Amino acid sequence: MPADAPGSGEHQLVVVANRLPVHRIDGHWHTSPGGLVRAMLGVLRTRRGAWIGWSGDIEPGPVVVETGGDATAVVDTIDPVSAAHLELAEIEMVPVPLDASDFLHYYERVSNGALWPLFHDAIRESTFDAESWAVYHDVNRRFAEAAAKAAAPGATVWVHDYHLLLVPAMLRHLRPDVVIGFFLHIPFPPQELFMRMPWREEILDGLLGADVLGFQRSVGADNFVGLAKRLRAAQPHEHGVRINSESLGDGRLVRVGTFPISIDVDEIARIARAPETKARAATIRARLGEPSTIFLGVDRLDYTKGIDLRLQSFGALLAETADEHVDVAPVVLIQIAVPGREGVDSYIEERHTVEQLVGEVNGSHATIGFPVVHYIRRSLALEELVALYVAADIMLVTPRRDGMNLVAKEFVASRLDDTGVLILSEFAGAADELTQAVLVNPHDPDAIVAAMREAIAMRPSTAGHRMRELRRYVTAHTVDNWAASFLDALGHAAPPDASPDLVGAEHG
Ligand code: F6P
Repeated sequence: MPADAPGSGEHQLVVVANRLPVHRIDGHWHTSPGGLVRAMLGVLRTRRGAWIGWSGDIEPGPVVVETGGDATAVVDTIDPVSAAHLELAEIEMVPVPLDASDFLHYYERVSNGALWPLFHDAIRESTFDAESWAVYHDVNRRFAEAAAKAAAPGATVWVHDYHLLLVPAMLRHLRPDVVIGFFLHIPFPPQELFMRMPWREEILDGLLGADVLGFQRSVGADNFVGLAKRLRAAQPHEHGVRINSESLGDGRLVRVGTFPISIDVDEIARIARAPETKARAATIRARLGEPSTIFLGVDRLDYTKGIDLRLQSFGALLAETADEHVDVAPVVLIQIAVPGREGVDSYIEERHTVEQLVGEVNGSHATIGFPVVHYIRRSLALEELVALYVAADIMLVTPRRDGMNLVAKEFVASRLDDTGVLILSEFAGAADELTQAVLVNPHDPDAIVAAMREAIAMRPSTAGHRMRELRRYVTAHTVDNWAASFLDALGHAAPPDASPDLVGAEHG
């Protein structure tokens, strides 16, 4: 260990992610929803684990507010938040505090203004600026230092996602004794897009600090290997790449693999089976006027999700079938849009676009008391989402680009009676696995309309067969299998004297 390294901690397994798995409502901490959090907490609990992340609160500090003209005012109005460590069922929560400048530069400008759009096929223009990158670098260093401090000798550290691309190499420098995994939840872009990134070499070097690099799809893993070869002279190897540079650990093998993430299938099925859920689903259908077909979309309000394209195609479908309309809406769309990242311009614009389209489609096709688009812009409890999955006939998952898309898997896991049709974008990671869905190119408006028509007309026996196959697949590939297979790969990467409980973890 270098002389200036933080002392080693006591945790055998350390998860490092932008957000902690807890959030505060009215001053009280709650476990955050989602299969990923549940799976990781389960694994951490059995291994004396720690989770390093941001609490979601912005630390106090001077905030510069534009007041118009040349004047700016410095105010300090943000509530203080305790940086004390939290304990959640024997797992240590280690907050990495972010102040307003960190939030702006690291989270909004670099993570969600530069990396997110570029890694999603450059659907929106990325903005790059050196000042923001310096803060991203600094925040990554603080995460790496917190991990170095928490990890026991020879521990395993699992770093997550695009906010923390530099952490693996920083951590390796501080703690060469630990085994480092990195999983990217979003797509890894093709070479011609990645080459636009001003900090492309630094990002590759950051990732090459890991022992195991996990991607959602094989195309992402291939993109990475190609770039590591091209820009860092790494040598492709049957299990990944071999480092060819002294500063990165010459000759070291970085394993590169595909680990498609999944959901907590049992939890979704348990909710879908509950009598209250079935009753709620029946109420939803009744409240909508018993339409012949309910389309459903559930997304974060993000331009990658293609909500606008879907609304346009839904409008086109209704226009084509206008003659079939009577007094009530025979076909409706429920669109849930969960707000987020609202300080980033492209998200504000996307909201306006979506809301204008909702107005247009309803303006053209609604009748009194029967809107055709039911648009809800807020976050819903999982129980309500599952009731919607059960109530719907056709699920629309049509992102322009998506790392995986867990909504597609949740819909499948909810359809206990094997009814319903999933329309799924070819550009979602889930399309590699959910091949019995109606796969569609979301960039082609006619193709979405054709897929909607195909789904409406699909014979129940065909839909039943396809949903059964989908459900069989999802049931056999849960988030627990995913976590176990990644940890298994890390076990294989561990040096021979590493903690034995990391070696031989079950393969998913
Ligand atoms: O899909 C990437 C991701 O970072 C998820 O891990 C996360 O749940 C989601 O986006 C929400 O993003 P944010 O933390 O910016 O609200």
